[in-house]
Amino acid sequence: MTSSIRRIAVCTGGGDAPGLNAVIQSVMIAAGNRDWECYGIRDGFNGILFPERYAQGGVVRLTRDRVRGIGHLGGTILGTTNKGDPLHFPIKMPDGSTREVDRSDDILAYFATHQIDALVAIGGDGSLTIANALHQKGLRVVGVPKTIDNDLDKTFTTFGFDSAVAFATECLDRLHSTAESHQRVMVVEVMGRYAGWIALHSGIAGNAHAILIPEIGFDLEKVTAKIRSRDAEGRLYSLVVVAEGALPCDGHRELLAPAEAGHAERLGGIGERIGHALQERTGKDTRVVVLGHLLRGGSPTAFDRLSALRFGAAAVRALDEGQSGIMVALGYPGVDYVALEEVAGRMKGVPLDGDTLQTGRDLGICFGD
Ligand code: F6P
Repeated sequence: MTSSIRRIAVCTGGGDAPGLNAVIQSVMIAAGNRDWECYGIRDGFNGILFPERYAQGGVVRLTRDRVRGIGHLGGTILGTTNKGDPLHFPIKMPDGSTREVDRSDDILAYFATHQIDALVAIGGDGSLTIANALHQKGLRVVGVPKTIDNDLDKTFTTFGFDSAVAFATECLDRLHSTAESHQRVMVVEVMGRYAGWIALHSGIAGNAHAILIPEIGFDLEKVTAKIRSRDAEGRLYSLVVVAEGALPCDGHRELLAPAEAGHAERLGGIGERIGHALQERTGKDTRVVVLGHLLRGGSPTAFDRLSALRFGAAAVRALDEGQSGIMVALGYPGVDYVALEEVAGRMKGVPLDGDTLQTGRDLGICFGD
């Protein structure tokens, strides 16, 4: 189908993830092969909202040369942000208070003025909620599901997730030897926001002995019993993987910082808390490793690269077919189109009846319940 499109833009929003540059590369090349011009918006939508910040321009022309050789690079050549949602943009008032304003019309005006026909929005639930609002205001938008957390609904996985799991698994492999050598308990805190996907997949793949995820409130006594039973079998060390959003069945989440205008609450600290408690309860030497932003960096795995390239090309095809208000999703066997409104603002948690969790239980892994 030959659409009326001649010019598109692409933006990257939310936390970065391995694979973003592969999507940008794929979008640019697929657009170029249709004689479309492709532009990149800097730092989410900030390149449009704050053009004065960018000496080289807040919206830059993407050429074949500019995207050459970036597919395996972590991060995003456009930059990103997970602060300052254009629909609820925080403005500091003279009295020091903060007011939220909707600046989506500024974005629509930019597209109209510069005759950009459509947008490929690459992001997680926050970015895709913004994308859906822009679609509802008349902009042609296709979303691409990105997050290391894998907590976006209606897609088998998001790109970035496999790379985070691969790295976390490698870290667990390394920790087995040092934990065994010192007969220690090692607690490994991983990202994932309010979902336990990274903890569950890397914990099972990395042979952890306990995995604590937000979907299952944990009882530390159960973890203590698991460690003691290993000791009794002569296995004098244990690895405990904990998702940053995990919480005890009778307690609260650990936060590094509360939510503030334009930025979500910062999760973290649960690893230290349970490491200290396990040392007290078991009397065993315990150390805590927080993988944090290491999970966001590095080169995408082959799976993530291929997913990202497929997503980018599919997003351009979808626009060429006249689609808008959809997200390209990893289905079986191909890439599906899912309505953005079915995804926006929703979270996909680990299913408690899923076979992966059941596999962990069958392998004797403790989940704190
Ligand atoms: O959503 C991706 C993610 O890495 C979460 O897993 C994590 O809680 C959050 O971003 C960290 O955000 P920031 O980079 O602002 O610290």
